[in-house]
Amino acid sequence: LIGALSALALTTLASNAYAQCDDGEMVIKFSHVVAAKGHPKGDAATLLAERVNEEMNGTACMEVYPNSTLYDDDKVMEALLLGDVQLAAPSLAKFEAYTLKYRLFDLPFLFPTLDAVNDFTTSDAGKELLKATEDEGYTGLGYWSSGLKQFSAGKPLVEPNDASGLKFRVQTSDVAVAMIEAMGASAQKLAFNEVYGALQTGVVDGQENSWCNIYTQKFFEVQDGITETNHQLLAYLLVTSTEWLEGLEPEVRDQFLSITDAVTQEANADVADKEAACRQNILDAGGEIRELTPEQREEWVSTMKPVWEQFEGDIGADLINAAASNGS
Ligand code: LMR
Repeated sequence: LIGALSALALTTLASNAYAQCDDGEMVIKFSHVVAAKGHPKGDAATLLAERVNEEMNGTACMEVYPNSTLYDDDKVMEALLLGDVQLAAPSLAKFEAYTLKYRLFDLPFLFPTLDAVNDFTTSDAGKELLKATEDEGYTGLGYWSSGLKQFSAGKPLVEPNDASGLKFRVQTSDVAVAMIEAMGASAQKLAFNEVYGALQTGVVDGQENSWCNIYTQKFFEVQDGITETNHQLLAYLLVTSTEWLEGLEPEVRDQFLSITDAVTQEANADVADKEAACRQNILDAGGEIRELTPEQREEWVSTMKPVWEQFEGDIGADLINAAASNGS
């Protein structure tokens, strides 16, 4: 019985139907922190696993571990280098220990739309940035967008001033800290799987995230409402260990890379629709969403955008200009 139960637990842990690898197949483990379904990253990871398991059957087998069931975003970076997992997709905000260049993606109000993000990430400058973590032993395989971020708190936020004195959970990003402090609020870095509890118990008053994270993690249930600020990008680096990638047979590596490229394109094309669906799901579940007038939004922009200057030295003015020129 115990054997049967643990087999059941393992099957439930891995989110895709192909989790049972055959003898002789190389196992590719993909660990991430979000919902397995109805989320741009959860769905992209499943799509990738389905394609690898079908097209590389007999050679490779991918298992996906969603919802921080295997590692959180800090631990997963170490696990990649140790070979305990082969793929991860932490948000670009979580790479501060490996490169300061990705601070670019966290600059508030840099990208007006997800199309502008796509224009930049597929440009030469964007592709070059995939290499930013190479010296640390990682290879970036692609950018996966997740959405633009919205603020929520335990009280209504209409003007940035409303956030004054509140404490917000942020990712491990100094840009986010600076941005929150510019609002007269304080920031606390917390792992993603700690956010719901921290909001519920009042350890923090608010948070900022994409529609699909706010919906699938049920943050809206423990907040007064969500303010549609679209103030910052949430996007991921699909990342692997360079040692693992270089250790693959050339034809296996080529096939794997061509599948990851195709899935990256397909997943990014679908993000805006998935985000719109999550926004609607929040409304349908009784969540409160506050839209801003153009004048109100301008106040958020003028409060937060000055932080760009603080990080220009780490990122480079040329890169900021190249990213800012997309879609503006
Ligand atoms: C967060 O920590 O808020 C996000 O990076 C989680 C995620 O992976 O979307």
